[in-house]
Amino acid sequence: MKILMISSEAVPFAKTGGLADMVSALSISLAKLGHEIKIVIPRYYSVDRSGLKQLPGALGVPLGGIEEWGGVYTAAMPGTGKKNPVTVYFIDHEIYFGRDGIYGTVFEPDFLDNSRRFTFFCRAVFQLCRKIEWFPDIVHAHDWPSALAPVYLKYAERVPDSAGGFEKAVSVLTIHNLGYQGIYSKDNFDYTGLGWDVFYNAGFEDWNMLNLLKAGLYSADKLNTVSPNYAEETKIQAHGFRLDGVLRYRSADYSGILNGIDTGVWNPQKDTLIPQRYAIDDLKGKAAAKKALQRYFGLAEDSSVPIVGMVTRLTEQKGVGDLFGPSYGSAWSICNDLKLQLVLIGTGESWCEHEIASLSSRLPNFGAHIGYSEELSHLIEAGSDFFLMPSRYEPCGLNQMYSLVYGTLPIVRRTGGLTDTVESYNEKEGTGTGFMFDDLTPQAIYNTVGWAVWVWYNHPEQIKAMQQRAMQQDFSWEKSAKKYLALYKEAQGKIEPPVKK
Ligand code: ADP
Ligand code: GLC
Repeated sequence: MKILMISSEAVPFAKTGGLADMVSALSISLAKLGHEIKIVIPRYYSVDRSGLKQLPGALGVPLGGIEEWGGVYTAAMPGTGKKNPVTVYFIDHEIYFGRDGIYGTVFEPDFLDNSRRFTFFCRAVFQLCRKIEWFPDIVHAHDWPSALAPVYLKYAERVPDSAGGFEKAVSVLTIHNLGYQGIYSKDNFDYTGLGWDVFYNAGFEDWNMLNLLKAGLYSADKLNTVSPNYAEETKIQAHGFRLDGVLRYRSADYSGILNGIDTGVWNPQKDTLIPQRYAIDDLKGKAAAKKALQRYFGLAEDSSVPIVGMVTRLTEQKGVGDLFGPSYGSAWSICNDLKLQLVLIGTGESWCEHEIASLSSRLPNFGAHIGYSEELSHLIEAGSDFFLMPSRYEPCGLNQMYSLVYGTLPIVRRTGGLTDTVESYNEKEGTGTGFMFDDLTPQAIYNTVGWAVWVWYNHPEQIKAMQQRAMQQDFSWEKSAKKYLALYKEAQGKIEPPVKK
């Protein structure tokens, strides 16, 4: 199959979270299975152009009443070769993408013109295919920034009077995070170049605003999210972010496929970013990583004290309010009352960054790094004994899977993909791969960390058995990539008759 991945992020070029990991890893896996994959992302200012090739000529993109002009760069996806090529295309537009930030900056978290930036991007994708004379069977879009692509396919490209090439293409839209939907003033709609009938038919309308994700959910041939449990959860009001009705309406076409992890990068036996590699039958490298981690944060170098690690975006989704909220967060008591060390790397909301910096300066057993570092995130995964993810919601979550294969037991809230990937400890049987809780409260986090630490000191043999079980989990991408192929085939099976303009 010819598959076009449309995304706002893809490692190693642009990343704010797991979306970037997922898009590249899925693409590489599909290519290994013999499919032809092209990824297209914007050419952000942060993408180093020196390693890219510029395609000759400009790219004309028809939008509401005007034609915008952009350019295209291209590069091979690192790690792919002649046998399984994955080509990445970068849509260039100096005014839209030649600035710091992917969606915004600290001072302007959501750029005012985001609706226009990603409208241009989604429309440009089809012009790119014409330019390179390559027409996909599958248009696979991810999250709100690419959600207009299925809409354009259905209402502007797969129609009898379009310039052709996309008659047989079908679309899949993957939800990575319902918390972000791309909701803007409907004054932005004219810029799409679509008629106002489409505004209502394609479900753009949302309380008199423009909702890009919602239109994508109405228009894509198939929908999915990144874990089976999150697919179920999002169909109910409590987790649907006001789109549960749409997802119920589309439930025949909506499913969950668990993400995999890139086992070339996240693998203690091959990891080049940790001091010493290790495997299930020889954990000396894990002990070395623990020592290095304690040294990095200036913590007491004591192997008998458990380390609880965190690698996270500092946003409400990740439960940081319950942990670090001034005056009520549980991190203070966790560090004061329990015999453990807490280490964290993260960036995000500034109140939280400040709170963490202040707490870590007062607590001798709390080491924190506010910033982004692949290297330190690998060291935390390898060197910690437990990994804390008290998410309020979690479509899939990658870090708990990384933790498991590094023998670092997750302490997680029973939600979304965390439920699908972690099995809670059972005291009687000594089974499980982690520690789980249900309540959305600081107390529940405190109690569960306390529970894990109690087992650490009182049942070390059970901790060891859990570690062994965790390290045997198989989260490689191939299984999930095959499920995506099945989904693509289902989408092809239900091509709708072209919509008359
Ligand atoms: P989300 O996409 O919701 O943030 P995931 O668990 O799916 O959550 O993916 C997060 C990804 O981002 C992981 O690869 C994680 O290691 C990485 N990450 C998040 N914050 C940082 C950070 N400060 N430094 C390094 N890596 C980070
Ligand atoms: C989102 C979700 C996360 C998921 C990732 C990759 O960022 O928050 O749970 O793992 O996308 O699909």
